[in-house]
Amino acid sequence: MGAVFSGAYLSGADFSGADLDGASPSPERDDNYKALDGRSPSIAEKKMPDATEPKIDWSKGAAWMDGRYMPISDAKIGVLDWGFIHSDVSYDVVHVWDGAFFRLNDHLDRFREGMAAQHMAVSQSREEMSEILHGCVAQSGLRESYVAMVCTRGELSVPGSRDPRDCENRFFAYALPFIWVITPEAAQRGARMLISKSTRRIPSDSVDPTIKNYHWGDFTRGLFEAKEAGFDSVILLDHAGNVTEGPGFNVFCIKDGRVITPDAGHLMGVSRRTVLEMAEELGMPVEVRPVPVAEFYEADEVFLSTTGGGVRPVAQVDDRIYSNGAPGVQTMRLHDHYWRWHAEGRYCEPVRYHCPD
Ligand SMILES: Cc1ncc(COP(=O)(O)O)c(C=O)c1O
Repeated sequence: MGAVFSGAYLSGADFSGADLDGASPSPERDDNYKALDGRSPSIAEKKMPDATEPKIDWSKGAAWMDGRYMPISDAKIGVLDWGFIHSDVSYDVVHVWDGAFFRLNDHLDRFREGMAAQHMAVSQSREEMSEILHGCVAQSGLRESYVAMVCTRGELSVPGSRDPRDCENRFFAYALPFIWVITPEAAQRGARMLISKSTRRIPSDSVDPTIKNYHWGDFTRGLFEAKEAGFDSVILLDHAGNVTEGPGFNVFCIKDGRVITPDAGHLMGVSRRTVLEMAEELGMPVEVRPVPVAEFYEADEVFLSTTGGGVRPVAQVDDRIYSNGAPGVQTMRLHDHYWRWHAEGRYCEPVRYHCPD
């Protein structure tokens, strides 16, 4: 059976070369699954229109800023916010699938640790932040969503100061229709990845990659190189020639059944942790250590992990083709297990779809 795509909808999806047991809960394998453009009918859309209410379009997402919810198009930050002029933020992204957050507590922990490490403080408590994230999704009505929490350094309270302590830190959050970091179409055939030849990952002792950040100069340069050469995305090496990560994902390879991933130089992805836990549950040996690029080329399979779609199969890195140019069998075991955990409600916290105040 071949892959059948219909616009934004994926039906009859078939990852050739993969372990097709037919019993998978994966949204990318389920013939009856809903739209994969990240949206299903929202609460807002299901509500009967009220002629007295002004028409507000929440379908593109909702934000919380300065104490109130607003359509995403109304959410703005000032040009003097250090988050904008110095990429000085702490942020995190959690996803909602089928009306439930996945590992919300882990994302909130990482976000707040990032804030603390960057000397940021805001008035909202952890519980209030969680409530606001629920509120953004509820307000948007989205059942599948990309949900961001952001703290910017903010604007100076002392004009002209060069002291970051003079900034008023600012928290905001927003929910968007689900974003696939590697699209279902690319994942289905196996993503094509370029190892950047021009750009190395910013050294960890300059910008700490374990704090999720907006320092994307290296990724953006690498993305131009990859896209212009016809690849889906880019993977960056460190200055010792070891594999690190890419824009929005961690990287893995599989050799002789062992699941191998770098130990340093990257964000400690929540999805990466999920992959390591799933591998243990599936009895797949794991190695967390430096991964020289040569070893990567010689691996049997390669895949990525991200909140934006989970386990994303890779069929090509530079000129090297894996698994006859299709997603690998072991990768697909992990891929399917990821969605099985969602279907079972593991780590899931249902969104409170009441109308936020
Ligand atoms: C640089 C980078 N690495 C890895 C990841 C994957 O992390 P997670 O699994 O928590 O989404 C991200 C996520 O956006 C990222 O930006």
